[in-house]
Amino acid sequence: MLSFDERSREYRDYTEKYLTDYYTQFHDMPQKSLFEAMEYSLLAGGKRLRPMLAFDFCRMAGGDWKAAAPFAAAIEMIHTYSLIHDDLPAMDDDNYRRGRPTNHRVFGEGMAILAGDALLTDAFSVASYAKLPKESDMSFAISVLAQCAGSLGMVGGQALDIMSEERTLTEQEVLDIQSRKTGALINAACVLGVVAAGGDEEKVRAAGMFAGALGLAFQIRDDMLDVIGTQEEMGKGVGTDSDKNTFVRLYGLEKCEALVEKYTRFALKQLNVFSDTEFMTELAESLTTRRN
Ligand code: IPE
Ligand code: IPE
Ligand code: MG
Ligand code: MG
Ligand code: MG
Repeated sequence: MLSFDERSREYRDYTEKYLTDYYTQFHDMPQKSLFEAMEYSLLAGGKRLRPMLAFDFCRMAGGDWKAAAPFAAAIEMIHTYSLIHDDLPAMDDDNYRRGRPTNHRVFGEGMAILAGDALLTDAFSVASYAKLPKESDMSFAISVLAQCAGSLGMVGGQALDIMSEERTLTEQEVLDIQSRKTGALINAACVLGVVAAGGDEEKVRAAGMFAGALGLAFQIRDDMLDVIGTQEEMGKGVGTDSDKNTFVRLYGLEKCEALVEKYTRFALKQLNVFSDTEFMTELAESLTTRRN
């Protein structure tokens, strides 16, 4: 049995290699600068949390975890695009991400927008390479990916975020924004991991419930780290969301800490339909005290 560190390294290394190899094949294309901009952000590190979730849900649902690689890579590509666009001057206007200057600071806004567009679109091409135990599940998988990324999911949450600037929101409104802007892609990762294993409806539903709660815990911790974290640890600017409708603004730090615990507990309860859940339990618990 692999230790927690060994398994997370295995998942992360596989993600790095998969993403690196995918774009290496296009290196002599004339649109070189586009690929350079895409790879600058995609291969800049990052925790690779969403791929780890996809791989491990596949394993916990009884599949060979590598079968989830096309979905894991696709979600990481969509996540990276969301970060590139989130940092643009028209959005959060941030200068630092994944330990480097933000994409638009290096390549200019036009190329950063296109790098994001291309990562989003290429993600669907990569996802389509998945070999599923039940071939007919592919249309479900693509619709999960599209809905989690699009106007009902991450982009919808980002839009609500913009719409709610300079207004104090209710608890329900903040929960709705956060579960879309952050929760939706985490949801896609967990659900598509199960689909890659050919898991049944009960497991798909449990993965979705787990992801909903973990996504909230993850974003509450992100909002806390914007206050208590450092740029060195986080690899991104801190204190940049102080004018936003964050959980910290709504509840204060102490209550946030309790909420991260509460949502994580609820998430972990959903794992009882899976087997071999030690790794996922440790992963979720480690996120409650993460510093990056
Ligand atoms: C940052 O996500 C943006 C949020 C959704 C909170 P991560 O904290 O997973 O960022 P990376 O992938 O490690 O850079
Ligand atoms: C963004 O939330 C979530 C995305 C969809 C990118 P934040 O704006 O809080 O993310 P960070 O703090 O810049 O990573
Ligand atoms: Mg933002
Ligand atoms: Mg931001
Ligand atoms: Mg943030």
